[in-house]
Amino acid sequence: MVSRVIPVDPFDLVIFGATGDLAKRKILPGLFRRFCDGQMPPDARIIGAARTEQDSVAWRAQVVEAIETFLPAAKRDPKGIAAFCDRLSYVAVDAMGDAGWTDLRAEMRDAVVQAFYFSVAPSLFGALAERLHHFNIARQDARIVVEKPFGRDLETARALNATLAAHFNETQIYRIDHYLGKETVQNLMAVRFGNTLFEPLWNSQYVDHVQITVAEEVGVAGRGAYYDKSGAMRDMVQNHLMQLLCLTAMEPPARFEPNAVRDEKLKVIRALDPVYPDHIVRGQYKAGAKPSYVEDVENPASRSESFIAMKLHIANWRWNGTPFYLRTGKRLKARKSEIVIHFKETPHSIFDADAGNRANVLSIRLQPDEGIDLRVTIKEPGPGGMRLIDVPLDMSFADALGPEVADVPDAYERLIMDVIRGNQTLFMRGDEVEAAWGWTDPIIAGWEARGDRPVPYDAGSTGPEEAAILMHRDNRRWREI
Ligand SMILES: NC(=O)c1ccc[n+]([C@@H]2O[C@H](COP(=O)([O-])OP(=O)(O)OC[C@H]3O[C@@H](n4cnc5c(N)ncnc54)[C@H](OP(=O)(O)O)[C@@H]3O)[C@@H](O)[C@H]2O)c1
Repeated sequence: MVSRVIPVDPFDLVIFGATGDLAKRKILPGLFRRFCDGQMPPDARIIGAARTEQDSVAWRAQVVEAIETFLPAAKRDPKGIAAFCDRLSYVAVDAMGDAGWTDLRAEMRDAVVQAFYFSVAPSLFGALAERLHHFNIARQDARIVVEKPFGRDLETARALNATLAAHFNETQIYRIDHYLGKETVQNLMAVRFGNTLFEPLWNSQYVDHVQITVAEEVGVAGRGAYYDKSGAMRDMVQNHLMQLLCLTAMEPPARFEPNAVRDEKLKVIRALDPVYPDHIVRGQYKAGAKPSYVEDVENPASRSESFIAMKLHIANWRWNGTPFYLRTGKRLKARKSEIVIHFKETPHSIFDADAGNRANVLSIRLQPDEGIDLRVTIKEPGPGGMRLIDVPLDMSFADALGPEVADVPDAYERLIMDVIRGNQTLFMRGDEVEAAWGWTDPIIAGWEARGDRPVPYDAGSTGPEEAAILMHRDNRRWREI
């Protein structure tokens, strides 16, 4: 089966922060992959912009190096690299001053899609928006893409929304959360709303509980200064885990359209009950083979969490009585992200007690190997009587669809192409972001008021013992990391 590449309209994509880490690591290699897949029309152009004074030739050399560094050899077509570079130009621009803006204006064309990727510190978003307007560069239908973090609390998120709204309307603003660009996250919606099988069971009558895990093996070394000001709650829960929770728990939207989907996600956030302090476990990794968290962030007094586990309730008809357990952390045993729906056991077992009574489990794997797995109970083959075992009905993309389709585009590739298409479904709306901060802020304020300290956990473990106890109290256990 050959992947179907949907062409996009000609475009000028300006990447502010073109010399930065994100541009090199994700955005440019992603664009190169889309180019190699034939998704870029001949007159699509990418314009790099940053303060560094250099010409297009020098920037192209940086881009080639980035592609060679961040894309595996198998995904690089050397002939493609030269052709891709023909699409690239560079303009030195200072977001905080007047330098370079008229040059950028001269680079832009009429009658093609205009997109501006703000891959810079959020403190520059306002200045960029203001200058794009002041120098008459962005058209009425231009799109801007903004990166996380989108604020650090409700107040700053509101201020940021207001700053952008001064020059762009909501249909022009694409707040990126790359978790929403993952193939399996979209498959979650396909599984739920494209099949009759699951949706009738997708409620508290049949679902015992839901676990959402985003576990990382890496620590925070290298970005310690930023991370220590955020902690896992701000860095991961308020955005990525919240988005996964919303897609899992939301009502079916009337149509698969941006505002219909985002309206339903917003309702989930608004239905979240306040969280009891003893339903949250915060942790900090200790030194192991590698330095501890406080050494990584160079702050011996740090009270920020590198791990968090929590139990949430969604106060609506569908989910009343079904807890959602969220867990994320750094320097854990393995890198693993998944959403797991644990269905209830059968109301009555007709089999002997020693046959074992099991419950169905649907897991949606985001990484490392994207796929969907449904565990069903069958009789253990053989002459040993009626003994029950779980077997997977594994919808692995590679097996089911062939290697070409299984080689799914990176989340950034998909999301950038959605910007060019003008499709906001997988981007966060301003009110969603504010609602998520509105839920997060009181929890963080509670920690600060109580002087709460994270508990230590071993590097390479599954997190603090207290997180396991959170589950044991409910007679449940976390999935293996
Ligand atoms: N890196 C990641 O993996 C990652 C992941 C998620 C989100 N993000 C977010 O993405 C954004 C960029 O992150 P990053 O890691 O790429 O940061 P970075 O490596 O520090 O790059 C910052 C970029 O901004 C440019 N810049 C700084 N001041 C400027 C000014 N006054 N005018 C014009 N350009 C200016 C810098 O170029 P010059 O020095 O040449 O001006 C550089 O290209 C941030 O909002 C970050 O939170 C990053």
